[in-house]
Amino acid sequence: MRIAVLTETDANERRVAASPETVKKFKALGAEVAIQSGAGLGSGVTDADFEAAGASIVANAENAAGDADIVLLVRRPEASRLGLFKPGAILVAIMDPYGARDALEAIAAKGLAAFSMELMPRITRAQTMDVLSSQANLAGYRAVLDAAAEYGRAMPMMMTAAGTIPAARAFVMGAGVAGLQAIATARRLGAVVSATDVRPAVKEQVQSLGAKFVAVEDDEFRQAETAAGYAKEMSAEYKAKQAELVASHIAKQDMVITTALIPGRPAPVLVTKAMVESMKAGSVIVDLAVERGGNCELSKAGEVVEHQGVKIVGHLNVPGRIAASASALYAKNLYAFVETLVNKDEKTLAVNWDDELVKATLLTRDGSVVHPNFQPAA
Ligand code: NAI
Repeated sequence: MRIAVLTETDANERRVAASPETVKKFKALGAEVAIQSGAGLGSGVTDADFEAAGASIVANAENAAGDADIVLLVRRPEASRLGLFKPGAILVAIMDPYGARDALEAIAAKGLAAFSMELMPRITRAQTMDVLSSQANLAGYRAVLDAAAEYGRAMPMMMTAAGTIPAARAFVMGAGVAGLQAIATARRLGAVVSATDVRPAVKEQVQSLGAKFVAVEDDEFRQAETAAGYAKEMSAEYKAKQAELVASHIAKQDMVITTALIPGRPAPVLVTKAMVESMKAGSVIVDLAVERGGNCELSKAGEVVEHQGVKIVGHLNVPGRIAASASALYAKNLYAFVETLVNKDEKTLAVNWDDELVKATLLTRDGSVVHPNFQPAA
């Protein structure tokens, strides 16, 4: 059983799909691990660190991947890399499959079995494999640090001989995994924090972190959570009521961190241009949903824009901005999943294609796109 870990090719990607710890664990499972030289550097892991854990370091991607049974990556490999892998090889990555039908077809055409980690069901057995949570938690933390860095004032209240600095007011929109960590981080830095969400289960979580909960709590709100624990897309009527409430609240905020997402849909627009214009000059908005269209009307992917003195931060790949921690957790998520594909007694690859985790995450196999969510429309 051969496992390969390659250097990521995206210019914004500093993460890596293995850590010295997971290399050791894969060795203990009976695997040989080949790491492309330099793959860990963006996350502070040197070739020597990987070698000390038992991996072999290989100069280029061709040699690392050519005979691998399993290839671990952070992102979906670009088309030009697909020829590196042997037919039948297993690819495991954050595949970002929505709207990527052509890319999935290309992966299928090479005979690869591609697994998409972000489709992992959120059930107890798969908690250790939940990349959305492991990465979103760090993104929520980092978003507050990015906001603090752009903010021209201190966040905590400070009483000094020269005068008092008031505590910053931070508003977190969307209190899922990222939002809850953003609340906790902003609180630790001394801000006065409030938060909103459309799922009622969140209210208590927000309050238990010491933040104020601000939301339109009508009948639709009481039914806004799907069985899977995600938000539904809200009606136009609800959105209008929410916008009205948010508009008056946002005008008093110094920082807004937006994290609202709906699985498989564009992100909802929660902060309009008019709302941005209602904020004081010097305020900061960090839009964590920018890669999915953005929660703020004015955010631009990959840019920090300034509008009437308000900075709107749209960094791409925020987990990658805290790469060493993000890689360590992502690598553990991958290990926990790959372990289930192995027969531990015989130390061989033994995928149970009927396992619910396999069925939920497998995108392509034997030349076809097999996942039900990514079939061509009938
Ligand atoms: P997400 O990344 O899909 O969305 C982020 C947040 O935005 C969610 O809380 C959502 O309700 C909120 N949102 C969506 N539309 C909104 C709107 N119009 N206005 C305001 N907020 C809006 O969600 P995430 O963070 O991945 O997780 C959602 C929930 O899933 C968690 O809070 C938790 O309850 C559950 N979960 C369960 C796990 C498990 O059982 N293993 C693991 C992780 C999360």
